[in-house]
Amino acid sequence: MKQGSIIIRGVGSYLPRKVLTNHDLASMVDTSDEWIRTRTGISQRHIADAHETCSDLAYAAAKNALEDAQLKAQDIDLLVVATITPDMICPSSAAILQAKLGLRNVMSFDINAACSGFLYTLEVATYLLQNGNFYKRALVIGAEKLSSLTDWEDRSTCVLFGDAAGAFVLEHTSAELVGIRDAILGADGSSSETLYIPAGGSLHPATAETVAQRQHFIKMNGKELFKASVRLMGKAVEELLERNHLTKADVACLIPHQANLRIIQSLAQSIDLPMDRVFCNLEVTGNTSSASIPVAFTQAKNAHYFHSGDYIVLVAFGGGLTWGATLIKWP
Ligand code: UT7
Repeated sequence: MKQGSIIIRGVGSYLPRKVLTNHDLASMVDTSDEWIRTRTGISQRHIADAHETCSDLAYAAAKNALEDAQLKAQDIDLLVVATITPDMICPSSAAILQAKLGLRNVMSFDINAACSGFLYTLEVATYLLQNGNFYKRALVIGAEKLSSLTDWEDRSTCVLFGDAAGAFVLEHTSAELVGIRDAILGADGSSSETLYIPAGGSLHPATAETVAQRQHFIKMNGKELFKASVRLMGKAVEELLERNHLTKADVACLIPHQANLRIIQSLAQSIDLPMDRVFCNLEVTGNTSSASIPVAFTQAKNAHYFHSGDYIVLVAFGGGLTWGATLIKWP
């Protein structure tokens, strides 16, 4: 392993221009602005144009992150995209993005860990940068066009999701004990039907019947997910702090996956962290799965929510089930 640390040199995000409000949704399904706001904390979400793909959203966020890092695409030697809404099943969205960025001979791959996907990409890229001899800088991206897998006739799910992308430029530096310090990641496949897309894979390849039965859209047991998420995220944060000899008092900013404000409030209560140290933007973005944390992080950084020397904790959960928590010390 090399000496030094992996730092976040640049961040960027992209939200499609079109906004879908709760009032718009109330004219599409049997719901109301009041129900959505009180049960989820969401007021609006961004929806990509029909022609915009996952890799297009990723490209826009990547360009912003490169600009923030004052780097060119050619300075990158590793590309990882977290997504459950790739442009196609094959090739990966990362490979498509690589071409859009004009990169050549750069290892590029997707990671599917649902809403925990971005924390999985951070972990994998951090290890490659820290241990590989070749890699110096990575572009890690969470990008989702969830609107393409949302059942717009199902009020229990369509009010939750939005489209977005967020990106980090990670860099190996000789400075010690800053940047990405540690992470806890996990999965429990025994509860896979809590959030899933039944058809379109090798289990149920697409047929006229699977399409007619709306089996290509996201299905979710919201109540189960709600309970599991608070428990799993709370446990991950507690363990992460304990093994780094930190307490809640050391956490300047918690950036949780933006799924539901009530989940975030229950999490904060369960770990005894005041809400003024928790960053939330889901009111205007909805749940954007693997894009949620890098988008929130970019907004938190731009709004000066954290400063040099601060500890930041990222925490996520999602389909799989998957979960994770990442500790960052801002340089
Ligand atoms: O990123 C991970 C992905 N997903 C999540 O994190 C979601 C986690 N779960 C949740 O956020 C919440 O469970 C939901 C927001 C999905 C649902 O909230 P809830 O408080 O658990 O509501 P519920 O499912 O228990 O439904 C309560 C009532 C039901 O009516 P009855 O049976 O009490 O008459 C639903 O039919 O609300 C009804 N309902 C709605 N009403 C108006 C469900 N969806 C809607 C809706 N508008 N959109």
